[in-house]
Amino acid sequence: MNATLGFAVIGAGRIGALHARHLAGAVEGARLVRVVDPDRVAAERAAVAGAGFSDALDDALSDPAVDAVLIASPTKEHAWQLEAAAGAGKAIFCEKPVADDLAETVRAMEAVEGAGVPFQIGFNRRFDPAYAEVARAVRAGEIGKVELFRSQSSDPGPAPEAYIAASAGFFRDSVIHDIDAARFVAGEVERVTALGRVLVDPVYAKYGDVDTSVITLEFVSGALGVLMNSRRTVYGHDLRLEVHGEAGKLVAEDERATKVWRYGPGGPRGDYYHHFLDRFRDAYRLEVQAFVDAVHAGHAPEPGAVDAVESLRVADAAVRSLHEGRPVRVEEVTP
Ligand SMILES: NC(=O)c1ccc[n+]([C@@H]2O[C@H](COP(=O)([O-])OP(=O)(O)OC[C@H]3O[C@@H](n4cnc5c(N)ncnc54)[C@H](O)[C@@H]3O)[C@@H](O)[C@H]2O)c1
Repeated sequence: MNATLGFAVIGAGRIGALHARHLAGAVEGARLVRVVDPDRVAAERAAVAGAGFSDALDDALSDPAVDAVLIASPTKEHAWQLEAAAGAGKAIFCEKPVADDLAETVRAMEAVEGAGVPFQIGFNRRFDPAYAEVARAVRAGEIGKVELFRSQSSDPGPAPEAYIAASAGFFRDSVIHDIDAARFVAGEVERVTALGRVLVDPVYAKYGDVDTSVITLEFVSGALGVLMNSRRTVYGHDLRLEVHGEAGKLVAEDERATKVWRYGPGGPRGDYYHHFLDRFRDAYRLEVQAFVDAVHAGHAPEPGAVDAVESLRVADAAVRSLHEGRPVRVEEVTP
C-alpha cells in the first residue's frame, strides 16, 4: 500500500469523471493514478492532473501504483470487475448497485470477503450532510422510537435510452438510494408493497420498466414507510426525507445551491439543483474521503457488503411486488 492511496477509476462516464476529478485533488490521502474506459476518448478526458489512461482493466490491476479501484462502469460490468480487483488485492469502492441480480451480488461480495480487501458501496446519500444529520439524530434518540419514514426523490427528466437499457431498472438503479436511506435511518425492512406506472416516457415500457412509483415499507421495528419516486420534476432534482417519531420529527428538504430567493413578477424563485450530480457533489466527495480514511486507518469501510446485498434485496422485493400485485416479505427474496 502506497502512503497516498493510488486510485484507478474504472468507467469514465457521468459519475466516473466526477470521482476522477475529486481524486485528482479534493480527497486527502488519495491520488488519481489512471482511468480505464473502453472509450479511450472518455478515459483521456477524465484522466486529469497527469493521470494515465487506458482501455483495459488489467493495466490498472497490474500497476503497483494502483492501491484501490473505483468502479464506475455500467452496472452489468461491476461484478466481474469486482472479482478481478479482489483477486488482484486492490481496495474497492464500487458504484451502486453491485449487480442487477442478487445471486451475482452475493458471489461478488464473497469474492471480496475471501480476498480480505476493503470494500465500500456508493450509497452517497449517507454522506450528504443533511441525511447524515437525520440518521445521527435518530440514533441519538432525538425523536424517540421511529414510527413513520418518508423519502421522495425525483429527477428532472428521464435518463438517456442507452443508460436505461443497461441499467438495472428503476427500483434497482434509482429507488435503491431511497431504500438504502430507509435502512440507514429506520432499520431493516420486513415487507414491501409496490405500485409503478409509466407516466413520463414510453421508453421505460420498452424495457419492462416504470418511471413513477410508490412503495410502502414495513420495517422490522414495526414502523411504516413510504417511498415516492419519479423521473420528472420540471423544476429540478427534488428530494425530501422525513422521519416521524414518538418525540418529534426530522425533515431534510429544500436543499438549494445558494440561500438566495429571487423575487420577480412570477413570484419567488430559489436556486434548486437541477441534477443529482450537483445536488450530491459534496456527498460524492465525502463518501470517497470516508473510504480513503477507513483504508488508511485499517477499519472496514461503510456502507459495505451487507448494505450492497440488503438494499438490493429490498429493491428485488419491490420488483416482485410490482409484478405480482401483492405485498412481498423481504425474506422471500433469496439469491
Ligand atoms: N451513486 C450515484 O448517485 C450514481 C449516479 C450515477 C451513476 N451511478 C452508477 O454508476 C455507474 C455508471 O453510471 P454513469 O451514469 O456514469 O454511466 P455512463 O453511461 O455515463 O458511463 C459509463 C462509462 O463506462 C464505460 N464503460 C463501458 N464498459 C466498460 C468497462 N467494461 N470497463 C470500464 N468502463 C466501461 C463507458 O464507456 C462509459 O464511459 C452505474 O452503475 C450507475 O448505477 C451512481
